[in-house]
Amino acid sequence: MKTYLVTGGAGFIGTNFIRRSLQVRPGWKIVNLDALTYAGNPASLQDLPEDPRKRYQFVHGDIRDPSLLSQLFSAHAFDGVIHFAAESHVDRSILGPAAFVEANVVGTFHLLEAALKSWRERGEPGGFRFLHVSTDEVYGSLGPRGRFTEKTPYDPSSPYSASKAASDHFVKAYFRTYGFPTIITNCSNNYGPYQFPEKLMPLVILNVMEEKPLPVYGDGKNVRDWLYVIDHCDALVNVLEEGRPGETYNVGGGAERENIEIVHLLCDLLDTRLGRPGEKPSRRLIQFVPDRPGHDRRYAIDAAKIKRELGWHPKHRFEEALEVTVDWYLSHMDWVDSVRTGDYRKWIERQYGRG
Ligand code: NAD
Ligand code: TYD
Repeated sequence: MKTYLVTGGAGFIGTNFIRRSLQVRPGWKIVNLDALTYAGNPASLQDLPEDPRKRYQFVHGDIRDPSLLSQLFSAHAFDGVIHFAAESHVDRSILGPAAFVEANVVGTFHLLEAALKSWRERGEPGGFRFLHVSTDEVYGSLGPRGRFTEKTPYDPSSPYSASKAASDHFVKAYFRTYGFPTIITNCSNNYGPYQFPEKLMPLVILNVMEEKPLPVYGDGKNVRDWLYVIDHCDALVNVLEEGRPGETYNVGGGAERENIEIVHLLCDLLDTRLGRPGEKPSRRLIQFVPDRPGHDRRYAIDAAKIKRELGWHPKHRFEEALEVTVDWYLSHMDWVDSVRTGDYRKWIERQYGRG
C-alpha cells in the first residue's frame, strides 16, 4: 500500500482526485486534510464505499497549523503529498486578498516545512514526492496567439494568481535549496462535477435552470483552455508516479473557447434537456456586466512536455464532457443545495447585487 496526504480534498478538484485515484489505484490510501472553508464540502465524499482496509480518512484542519501537520506526518509514513488546498476564486481575491496570502502562501510554506522535516527524519526516502497543484494563471495573459510553456516567465495579474505564483516559487526553492523532491503542475481551467457554483460553468448552469441573469464580464471574448477534471486527475496520478523531481508540467485540455461560447453552449444544452420551447430561449438571460479588473484576456496551455515525457493526453472530448457535467448538475441538486450555505448567498449578493 502507498499512503498519500491530500490537502484541500473536500474542494472541487481534490474531491474528484480522491474519488478517481482510489478507483484507479487500489493500492493507495488517502488522508484528506481540509479546513472546510466555504468551498470545502465533506458531503462530496460521504458516499465513498465503505472499505475494510480504511483507504480513506478525513482530517478536519488547517495547513497553517504546524502542530497538526507535525502530528499527521509522525502518525503516517506518507509516500507523498498532493497539495490542492487554496483559496481559488479570482473575484474573491479582488475583494479580499489577505485570505489568499494566508492560505496559498503561508499555508504552502507551513506544509513544505512539515513535509521537509518528516522527509529528512525518515532518511530522505527516494520515492517521496511533494506535488504542488498550481494554475496557468501564474503566467499572466496571452494575446491572440501563442501558448504557455513551462519556460514562460511568471507575470500574474490578480491577487489569486500572485499568491499561487509566490507558492510556486517556494516549492521550487525547496527543491533547489534542500533537494526536497517537489513537482509542480500548472493547469488550465477545470470543469466537471462537484465544482462550487461561484465559477463560470456551474454558475451559468444553475442560473439557466433557475432562469436568473447570466453575468458575462466585459465583451465575453476572454478565452480559457478548458480541461475536464477527470483528465486532470489522471495527469496528476501520472506526474506523481512518473514525473521528475524539480520539474514543472503544464496540463491543458486543448479546448480553447471564448466565455460567450461557453455560455451559449450551456444555454442551448439546457434548453434541450429542460424541454424549453422557442428559439434558444435561455440566451435571453445573458447580461453583459462590467469587466473584472485585471481580467486576463486569454490562457492557452502547451501540454507537449507532459504528453512527450509521461504519455498523458486528455481522453475526454470537450462537447461530450460538457454534457456529462450538465447532466451531473441536473441530477445532483441535493449536492447543490447542500453547498449553497449562507456564505454563498452573501457572496452572490455582494458580487452580483442579488440573491
Ligand atoms: P476549491 O476552492 O474548490 O477547493 C479548495 C479546498 O481547499 C477547499 O476544500 C477548502 O476547504 C480547502 N482549503 C482552503 N484553505 C485551506 C487551508 N488553509 N487548510 C486546509 N484546507 C484549506 O479549489 P479547486 O478548484 O478544487 O482547486 C484546487 C487547487 O487547484 C487549488 O490550489 C487551485 O489553485 C488549483 N487550480 C484550480 C483550477 C480550477 O480550474 N479549479 C485551475 C488551476 C489550478
Ligand atoms: P472563473 O470560472 O472565475 O475562472 P478563472 O477566473 O480562474 O479563469 O472564470 C472563467 C471566465 O469566465 C473568466 O474569464 C471570467 C469569466 N466569468 C464571467 O464572465 N462571469 C462570471 O460570473 C464568472 C464567475 C466568470
